[in-house]
Amino acid sequence: MPSVLPEGEPAPADGALPPPALASLGRRPFGVYVHVPFCATRCGYCDFNTYTAGELGSSASPASWLDGLRAELDLAARVLGSPPRADTVFVGGGTPSLLGADGLASVLDAVRDAFGLADDAEVTTESNPESTSAEFFAGIRAAGYTRVSLGMQSAAPHVLAVLDRTHTPGRPVAAAREARTAGLDHVNLDLIYGTPGERAGDLAASLDSVLAAGVDHVSAYALIVEEGTALARRIARGELPAPDDDVLAERYEQVDAVLSANGLHWYEVSNWATGPDAWCRHNLGYWRGCDWWGAGPGAHSHVGGVRWWNVKHPARYAGLLAGGRSPAAGREVLSTQDRRVERIMLELRLSDGLSIDHLSQPAQAEARAAASEGLLDPDAIAGVNGHHGRCVLTARGRLLADAVVRRLV
Ligand SMILES: C[S@@+](CC[C@H](N)C(=O)[O-])C[C@H]1O[C@@H](n2cnc3c(N)ncnc32)[C@H](O)[C@@H]1O
Ligand code: SF4
Repeated sequence: MPSVLPEGEPAPADGALPPPALASLGRRPFGVYVHVPFCATRCGYCDFNTYTAGELGSSASPASWLDGLRAELDLAARVLGSPPRADTVFVGGGTPSLLGADGLASVLDAVRDAFGLADDAEVTTESNPESTSAEFFAGIRAAGYTRVSLGMQSAAPHVLAVLDRTHTPGRPVAAAREARTAGLDHVNLDLIYGTPGERAGDLAASLDSVLAAGVDHVSAYALIVEEGTALARRIARGELPAPDDDVLAERYEQVDAVLSANGLHWYEVSNWATGPDAWCRHNLGYWRGCDWWGAGPGAHSHVGGVRWWNVKHPARYAGLLAGGRSPAAGREVLSTQDRRVERIMLELRLSDGLSIDHLSQPAQAEARAAASEGLLDPDAIAGVNGHHGRCVLTARGRLLADAVVRRLV
C-alpha cells in the first residue's frame, strides 16, 4: 500500500461505479483484499498503513474495524449488483495474525456473506511468525484459509536488529512447518535483502533456513528506504549506510541462484515458487489487471478500469461506514493509455512476460534492441510455431526491470 494516496477525483458517497465498469465483471478472476491495520510494534523500515495500540488509543479498535469491514463488504455487494463469487481472498496488513484464528474466521465469514467463495478459492492471510502457533494454523485452516504468508525477513539476528524486528530464533521456520502440518496448502516466507550490515553469508543463512522450512513460495524484496520511516532518519543522520545498488544486485542474483538450484523458480521478479500450482493467484490478479475489491482502511480497489482508495485512518474509516457512507477517499478512471502503460509495467515482471502485440511499433523495435542487449529473451521475442512473440526478462533484465519498462512504455 503506498503511503501517499494519488490525487484523483472525489469518490461518490454511496460508492457507486460508472455502469461501464461493471460490464465485464466476472469474466476474469475476481479477488477480495482485506486490510488489517494493526501491528504489535512498528518495524523501522515499514511505511504500510498500520497502527500500534498506543498510536490508536481509544479512537479505533479491532472491534470497530470489523464492524466497518462488514459494512463495507455489504456496500460492495450492493455496488457490484450481483457480485461474482470471490476466486481469491487475501487478508493482509499490518499483522492479520494479531486478530487470532477466531478473528480471521470472522473476517472470512464476512467475505463469504457478501460475495460467496468459489469452490476452489485461494484464501491467504499474512502473519508475523511471532503471533502464530500450531493452534492458530489449525484454527485458520478449519475456517477455510488455504495459504499463509509469513514475514521472516532474515535469519541473522544482527540484520533483524537493524530492521527493528525481534524473532525468537528459528520461529519463522517452525511456524512454516506448523502451517504445513495444519494442512494449509501453500506457505510463503518473505525475505528482505540488502539491509545495511547484511553480508552475503547472512543472506546464505537466511536462504538455508527458507529451504529447511520446505515452503512452496518465497517473496524476496530489496530493502526500500521509505521516506518518513525510522530507518530513513537513521540513514539521514549517518548512523547507517544506505543500501548500495551494486550490493542489492549481487544479493538478488544470490537469492535467484540458490532458490532456482533448489526447485523454486521465479514467476515474478520478486517471487519464486515450486511450480504454477504454488503461484499466488491473488497477486497474479493484480499483475494481470483483473478486478478486485480492497476493503479496509487505505485499501485500493480496481473494477473495470476504475481504481479507488479508502481513507487511511481506522477511526475515520469506521466513522464513515457507521454513518452509511462509502470509505472511498478518491478515485480515478483509467484511460486506455493508462491501462496500456500499467499492463506493460506489471506483465513484463512476470515469467510469462508480455505479448509483443501490446507494444506500439517503435516499442516493438525497442524490445528487439533490448533482446540484442541481453535484457529480453531473444527466443521468446521471436515467437514459436506461429505464436506471437513475448517480452520475457532475462536474468540480467530482471535486475534492470524498471529501466526496460521505461523503454517500452
Ligand atoms: C504486511 S508485511 C508481512 C506480515 C507481517 N506484518 C510481518 O511483517 O511479519 C509484508 C511484507 O512487506 C515487506 N516490506 C515491508 N516494508 C518493506 C520495505 N521498506 N522494503 C522491503 N520490503 C518491505 C516485508 O517483507 C513484509 O514481510
Ligand atoms: S513489516 Fe509487518 S509487522 Fe512490521 S510494521 Fe510493517 S506490517 Fe507491521
